[in-house]
Amino acid sequence: MQKTILVTGSTDGIGLETARMLVLKGYRVLLHGRNAVKLVQVEKMLVAEGGVVESYLADLSNLSEVNNLAREVIKRHQKLDALVNNAGVLKIPSPITPEGMDKRFLVNSVAPYLLTKLLLPLLGNKGRVVNVSSAAQAPVSTKAILGEIELSHNSAYAQSKLALIMWSNDMVQKLKGSGPIIVSVNPKSLLGSKMVRESYGISGSDLSVGADILCRAALSDEFAQASGKYFDNDTGYFATPHPDALNSSMCKEVVDAIEEVIFKLTA
Ligand SMILES: NC(=O)c1ccc[n+]([C@@H]2O[C@H](COP(=O)([O-])OP(=O)(O)OC[C@H]3O[C@@H](n4cnc5c(N)ncnc54)[C@H](OP(=O)(O)O)[C@@H]3O)[C@@H](O)[C@H]2O)c1
Repeated sequence: MQKTILVTGSTDGIGLETARMLVLKGYRVLLHGRNAVKLVQVEKMLVAEGGVVESYLADLSNLSEVNNLAREVIKRHQKLDALVNNAGVLKIPSPITPEGMDKRFLVNSVAPYLLTKLLLPLLGNKGRVVNVSSAAQAPVSTKAILGEIELSHNSAYAQSKLALIMWSNDMVQKLKGSGPIIVSVNPKSLLGSKMVRESYGISGSDLSVGADILCRAALSDEFAQASGKYFDNDTGYFATPHPDALNSSMCKEVVDAIEEVIFKLTA
C-alpha cells in the first residue's frame, strides 16, 4: 500500500524539496505550511508532477493550530508511515508572542513535540518520526522555553534545536520500544534555503542533499534501528549530539518546560 508521510514546512526550502522527492518516489505526501497561498502553489506544482498530496494549513507558533492540524490528519487517516518535523525558524522579526512565549522555541521544539504526541496513535510502532535538528546545538535554558528570558536569534535557534533532540530522546525512553522510531537529523549545514539566505546572506549549497537524508531517515533500512539516535549529515554518519541530550534528567527538565508551555497556552 502507498505510504503516507507528513512533512511540516513543505512550502519552501528543504521541506519542499523533501516533499517533491517523496512524491517522485510514489509516496502520498501530506503537505503542511502556514501560508495558504504558498501551500496552494506547492500543491498545484506537485500534482502537476503526478503527485498524490493533501494540504494542511497551520501556524506552528500557535498551539491551537497545532492541535487542529493533528485533528485534521487524524480525521482523514488511520495510519501515518512517517512524520518529518521539518518546519523551523531562525531569524524572525517579532520573536515573542502576545502571551510572552518565544516563537523560536514554539516552532522549533514545542510544536513538533505536541504534534508527535498527538499523532503517536497513527504512527504506531512501525512509523517513523524524523526531527530536523542542526549542527547548531547549545545548552537549553528552560527559562527561555518558558519565555522568562529573551535570547538572540542564534542562541534561541541553537537551544531550540538541542531541545528537539532532548525531547526526542526522552520520548524514546518513555515509549520503551512501544512507539515509532524517533530519530534526530542535522540535514547538513548551510543548505541553500530562504533561512540560510536571510540569516547569513549566502546562497548556500544543494538543498537536495538535505532532502535526500530526510527521505532516507523516513524510509530506508539504514534507519530501521535508529530510534534515539542523531544523524549528522555534515559528516554523513550517526554521531554524538551535544552531551546534554544524553543526560536523561536534563532531557526530562526540558520536557517538563515544554509541557508547561503547552499547558499554559492550551489549558
Ligand atoms: N538550511 C540549512 O542549512 C539547515 C541546516 C540545519 C538545519 N536546518 C533545518 O531545516 C529545516 C528547514 O529549514 P530550511 O532551511 O528549509 O528553511 P526555510 O526555507 O525557511 O523553510 C522553513 C519552512 O518552515 C515553515 N515555517 C516557518 N515558520 C513556520 C510556522 N510558524 N508555522 C508553520 N510553518 C512554518 C516555512 O514556511 P514559509 O514557506 O511560510 O516560510 C517553510 O516551509 C528547519 O528546521 C531548519 O532549522 C536547515
